[in-house]
Amino acid sequence: MTENRIVCRNLTKIFHGIHAKQDVVACEDISIEIQPGEFVTVIGPSGCGKTSLLYMIAGFEQKTSGMILVDGKSVQSPGPDRAVVFQEFALFPWLTLRQNIEFGPRERGIQNDVMREHVNSMLRTVGLTAAESRYPHELSAGMRQRAALARVLVNEPKILLMDEPFAALDAQTRSTLQAELGRLAKLLNLTILFITHSVEEAVLLGDRVLAMSARPGRIIEDLAINLPRPRDPTSPAFNEYRRHVDLLLEQATRTAADTETTAN
Ligand SMILES: Nc1ncnc2c1ncn2[C@@H]1O[C@H](COP(=O)(O)OP(=O)(O)OP(=O)(O)O)[C@@H](O)[C@H]1O
Ligand SMILES: [Mg+2]
Repeated sequence: MTENRIVCRNLTKIFHGIHAKQDVVACEDISIEIQPGEFVTVIGPSGCGKTSLLYMIAGFEQKTSGMILVDGKSVQSPGPDRAVVFQEFALFPWLTLRQNIEFGPRERGIQNDVMREHVNSMLRTVGLTAAESRYPHELSAGMRQRAALARVLVNEPKILLMDEPFAALDAQTRSTLQAELGRLAKLLNLTILFITHSVEEAVLLGDRVLAMSARPGRIIEDLAINLPRPRDPTSPAFNEYRRHVDLLLEQATRTAADTETTAN
């Protein structure tokens, strides 16, 4: 079964400067495979190429060389099979919560009654039925993030590409949404690529954690997290994974600092 599988082979992204010496190699020779229904987290030092990797899979950025296949087909442009969720979740401030979620299905010309049923079910799924007629400014930050997730999920993407979606939230809201995303991922059988700066979040959510080196971003480890869910971040086994990923990240950051010192 290839459905929703993401395959990257020898993927490289270079942002070209005016002069060759200004070229930035954002991703270098990345080969990864994400299986249907898998939740994969990505961690790496700032500027190492995580967003660039995600944008290439989303079809927002063109690769320089290598191959990206989604569902067996080469990615050339964005598509409805892949939804992207950013740190700043996008909601239209002039539309109510329900109207925001209805926006996508309306654009796609879905019949009114079918759409309404679909939106109702999505509101229930994210626990926002009671807030459907509120405007975004009348919602808490956590509710806004959930609403924006519903807005994306109502279009039934198979793949979620998430770029630090919970980074701006307070610890408690973040923890609630992490649990909710884990539940939704299983419920809707989503394939997820999730970028984070938090080692705890990477280990908590990922079936696998991909650790990237400092720029040029390469995959330095592909670590399976063999812990039952829901995971307990206070357990010794969780801590061992956390310590391991911490170390990887520390090494990657240190290598970057060394390289910069040598270059100066
Ligand atoms: N459109 C662009 N044009 C030129 N250079 C770019 C562009 N986008 C990213 N870069 C460069 O590519 C490198 C990788 O950037 P990217 O945004 O992928 O890193 P990141 O790992 O997501 O960082 P962060 O953790 O800070 O979000 C950086 O050096 C960045 O300056
Ligand atoms: Mg980024």
